[in-house]
Amino acid sequence: MYSPMTKNVVALFGSNLLGGNTDKLLMEAIRGVEDAGCTVQRINVARENLAGCSQIYSCMFEDRCSNEDGVNKYHTMLKEADGLIIATPVMTYGIPGQLKSFMDRCQPFYMAKYFRKKSFITKEHAKIRRTLFICIAGMNTPDVFIGPVLTTKAYCEIIDAKYGDELLQNDMDTILKIENKPDIMKAAYEKGRALGEAIAKARE
Ligand SMILES: Cc1cc2nc3c(=O)[nH]c(=O)nc-3n(C[C@H](O)[C@H](O)[C@H](O)COP(=O)(O)O)c2cc1C
Repeated sequence: MYSPMTKNVVALFGSNLLGGNTDKLLMEAIRGVEDAGCTVQRINVARENLAGCSQIYSCMFEDRCSNEDGVNKYHTMLKEADGLIIATPVMTYGIPGQLKSFMDRCQPFYMAKYFRKKSFITKEHAKIRRTLFICIAGMNTPDVFIGPVLTTKAYCEIIDAKYGDELLQNDMDTILKIENKPDIMKAAYEKGRALGEAIAKARE
């Protein structure tokens, strides 16, 4: 029997570096979400051994991805989630390869919603679901976030988890340690907390 976990947030971590700057911001956001009374399931996407989309297109007609390399259990987690955090560095002006592949592997959500016209996510649940996007970059230019934000907004549409808020920090090559920016660490906590509080309120 399908029984969705409520007040649950899935966190997608796009960096390879555990303990790095993206990780530190994600941990602050998770702390905020948990302080608001929600639970968090974290996926270290770059450490997962998942293939890219092999374009078999079986998901035009089936709910599951036919490549049974473990991705379907993540689809279940994503379907049940009330919220999402995506935390990633910029790589080559975009989302890093493994995380981008993971997003591509969510094509069953796309086919269900746009091709078969029956989203996995009910309208009621879609009203609750929202995403916090955390992204950092080495360079000191604002345009490094254009690609990652566009991809993430498209992904949020596909999985029906509204792009709700963002925390973007460029210039990490100069800043070096995110602890040198206590305002950004605080913002990560507060944005996580706001995400958790919005979910908790919607679930009251
Ligand atoms: C392969 C690779 C490509 C990168 N490409 C970019 C880029 O195009 N623009 C940019 O501003 N920073 C780029 N960076 C820098 C990272 O975004 C930056 O160092 C970030 O702080 C890394 O976060 P992390 O240590 O938490 O993984 C790149 C880093 C790597 C490893």
